[in-house]
Amino acid sequence: MANNYDLMHSQLKKLGYIPSPIDKNLDLPSAIKKLKKEKNAVLLAHYYQEPAIQELADYLGDSLYLAQQAAKVEADIIVFAGVHFMAETAKIINPTKKVLLPDLKAGCSLADSCPPNNFAVFKAQHPNALVVTYINCSAEIKALSDLVCTSSNAKEIIESIPVNREIIFAPDKNLGRYLIKETGRDMILWDGACIVHEAFSFEKIVALAKKHPQAKFIAHPESESPILEIAHYIGSTSGLLRFVQEDTSSTFIVATEAGILYEMQKCCPEKTFIPAPVEDSTCACSECAFMKLNTLEKLYNCLVYELPEINLDTALINKAREPIERMLNLSSP
Ligand code: 13P
Ligand code: SF4
Repeated sequence: MANNYDLMHSQLKKLGYIPSPIDKNLDLPSAIKKLKKEKNAVLLAHYYQEPAIQELADYLGDSLYLAQQAAKVEADIIVFAGVHFMAETAKIINPTKKVLLPDLKAGCSLADSCPPNNFAVFKAQHPNALVVTYINCSAEIKALSDLVCTSSNAKEIIESIPVNREIIFAPDKNLGRYLIKETGRDMILWDGACIVHEAFSFEKIVALAKKHPQAKFIAHPESESPILEIAHYIGSTSGLLRFVQEDTSSTFIVATEAGILYEMQKCCPEKTFIPAPVEDSTCACSECAFMKLNTLEKLYNCLVYELPEINLDTALINKAREPIERMLNLSSP
């Protein structure tokens, strides 16, 4: 069945968006830098992007940092090297800017696990509940929310809600369970998850930790509960990055998308980072296939053609902006 991204892609084809082949002798990083300047464009990139894209970013960070930066952009164009919900969020909070995503098919399994029609029915079953959604969801889900959060500020956001208030948390059940434990709040959880963070193998991590008894095991809260229970530290991508810089250990086993290891190694060249192993025996670490759809070639084309562009209905932007702005106001800068 065609999803939203397929439909948008076929619309691009109808518009005649068929980029010409790129000269293979072109120095893509230099060409991208030049185009950014000429077109007054800013490149925001998530830590899960390939290293060559991270290197070109004007702002590199986690979902919260990138949303905060997107809100402040004064340039004409925002190129979002990340996934669809991130680019959509940038459009929602800075709607007068042209927002480009190098590959429109860069979706998110977690966002896809929460279809708006089903979520509206779920929400109607709990009419008194306040709806808190993880930023990894579509604009339509944000429009059905009271508050948005990221993994960096989720605890802060939940703790800002009066204790007697019923809460729906969506779409990530793993982050939701972790927050229930951390805050003591009894939330109603939507049954969604991220395929990348659910791929880690508990048994293989335990075996790896035995081989490296001096290593600290650190994990992103989108991982499943048994994994989180054995972690020395749990945090968002920027939290994990901060931890490895501040902690005195020299080896870390890292349970999140492997793209973050590039920045960790850059910040701490003397330390060793081992990606946490996954169940699948054909690959050694967990990579997000959606994030990795963005390439230097697509980034270049996206600046040349100023396509694919994120366009959203104004009424949807206005509805979805409120819970994001509430989050930005509640978060430390
Ligand atoms: P953060 O970068 O906010 O930790 O989110 C992780 C993630 O899965 C992004 O898709
Ligand atoms: Fe979505 Fe998971 Fe990929 Fe993040 S890592 S974009 S949550 S599928």
